Amino acid sequence: MRKIGYFLFKRPSINLVLSRLRNRRARAAIPVLLEQAFPGETLRAKLHRVEHHLAHLSSAFHVCPFDRAAVVSIDGFGDFSSAAWGSAAGCEISTYGRVYFPHSLGIFYQALTQYLGFPHYGDEYKVMGLAPYGRPSFLDAMRKIVHLLPDGGFELDLKFFCHHREDIAYQWADGSPEFGDLFSPALEELLGPRRLPADPLEDRHRDIARSGQAMYEEAFFHLLGVLQKRSGLTDLSLAGGCAMNSVANGKVRRMTPFRRVYVQPAAGDAGGAIGSAFAAWHKLGGKRTFVMDHAYWGPEFGAAEISRLLTAHESDMAAAGCKLEDISDEATLCRRTASAIADGKVIGWFQGRMEWGPRALGNRSIVCDPRRADMKALLNAKIKRRESFRPFAPSVLEEAVAEWFEEDDAVPFMMQVFQIREEKRKLIPAVTHVDGSGRLQTVSSLTNPRYHRLIKSFRTLTGIPMVLNTSFNENEPVVCKPQEALDCFLRTKMDILVIGNTVISR
Ligand SMILES: [Fe+2]
Repeated sequence: MRKIGYFLFKRPSINLVLSRLRNRRARAAIPVLLEQAFPGETLRAKLHRVEHHLAHLSSAFHVCPFDRAAVVSIDGFGDFSSAAWGSAAGCEISTYGRVYFPHSLGIFYQALTQYLGFPHYGDEYKVMGLAPYGRPSFLDAMRKIVHLLPDGGFELDLKFFCHHREDIAYQWADGSPEFGDLFSPALEELLGPRRLPADPLEDRHRDIARSGQAMYEEAFFHLLGVLQKRSGLTDLSLAGGCAMNSVANGKVRRMTPFRRVYVQPAAGDAGGAIGSAFAAWHKLGGKRTFVMDHAYWGPEFGAAEISRLLTAHESDMAAAGCKLEDISDEATLCRRTASAIADGKVIGWFQGRMEWGPRALGNRSIVCDPRRADMKALLNAKIKRRESFRPFAPSVLEEAVAEWFEEDDAVPFMMQVFQIREEKRKLIPAVTHVDGSGRLQTVSSLTNPRYHRLIKSFRTLTGIPMVLNTSFNENEPVVCKPQEALDCFLRTKMDILVIGNTVISR
C-alpha cells in the first residue's frame, strides 16, 4: 500500500516507475529461473517469499549465540524499506518499526561516498577509513540532511537527493554495479563542490568524511537507544549493508546500554540467502540448533589437488626461483611461518575452506608483521596498491583482546573496530589507525586451530599476540582456488606462499 501511495502522490519520473515494474517482472520470473537451475525439483518444492528486511533480521538473529536479542537491519533499500528493528526470542522476531523509501541511511552514506569521489559500489568503507583523518566540522550541515524521529527512525531532507524522483542509472563494470549520482545540486550548495575521483584529497574532504560518519553514528545510536529502552535487552544482532560499518558497531557498548554485539560475516545482501532459509525453516516449525561462530563455509581443496597443481607448474616456479618444501608437522609449519613473518616477510596463507562474506579471516589471507611501521607502505608497494589512508587490520588471539584493546568481545568477523590501548599502540604501528583504533579479528583455537597456532607461534617469538591480516588478492576478488593463489603469488612480490602444508619461497 505504501508503495502504491508513494507512486500516486509523489509522482516520480516515468523511468523510475518503469524500472520498479521491471523489478517486479524479474521477481515474477524467479520460479522459472529456479526450474532452469534445478530441473524437476521445483515441482516438489514450495516457494516461500521472505521480505527483504525480515531476511536481514533473520540472518542477524537466527544464527547468533543469543536466545533473546534486539535486532536491527539498516541498508540502502530492499522491498521499499531501508531499515527495520525489533526484538527476537527463540524462533520469533517482532518488528517495532521501519523506515520506508525514499528515506535511507544507506543512501545518505552512499551519496556522500559519491560526492567525495569514490564512485564504486561498496566504496563506503573508504569513507569510513578516511574519516579519522578529519574533524566533524560539517556535522551541523549533516543534521540538515538527516533528521531523527522520536520512534528511533530517521528522514532525509529530500532536496539533497534525486533517487526518489529519477531512475538512477547504473551499469555493470568489472563485475559490480556503478551508479549515477544519488545527490542533487543542493548538496554541493551545502557542502561546496564535489570531489572528482582524480582530484587530490584535501582537509575539507576529510572533514566531510568524518562528519558523514558522525551523522551516521548519531542516527544509529539514536535508533539503538530507543530500541534498547523499549526492549530492555542488552544483546544486539545487526544486519544489512550498514551493519558493515564496523567503526559504529565498535562504539555500541560505549554509546548504549547494549553489552554484546553479533554481526554475521555476510551482513550485506549476500546474507539475505541465509536469513531467508532460516525464516522458512522456522516457519515450518524447525528448531534453533545452529550458531554461526565461524565463517569457513566456502570451498576447500584437498592435498592431492594442490599437489597436482604444483607439479603442473614446476617449471614456472623454477623459472621464478621458487623453492618448495612440504612440512606435514603443523607445529613446525606454524613456527617456520611465524619466524618468516617476524623477519619482515609477506606471506600468502591459503588453508582449508574459504571464508563466507567479504572478509579474509585467516584462510585466504596475506599475513605479515604488525610491529613494522613501514609494513603498510611495503604491502602497498609489493601487492595491494590501495589508497594510503586505508588501514590494515590485526588478527588477534581471542584470549589477548582485553590486554591490548579498550573493549573485550568476540569479533570473529572483523565487524567491530576497537580502540587499541594507548601504551600498546607504538608496538603495533602497522595495524594502528590514525585515531588509535584497530579493526580486529579475534581468533579462537576452537574455530580456526591452525591460524590460532600460527599467531601463538608469532607471540612466542615476539611477545605480540597478533599478525597483520589482509585479504589474499591483488586488485581482484579474493583468491578462492589454489590456482588463483599461485597466480597471485607469482604475479606479485609476495615472499612466501603457504598453501596447505607446502611452503613456497623465493
Ligand atoms: Fe539489504
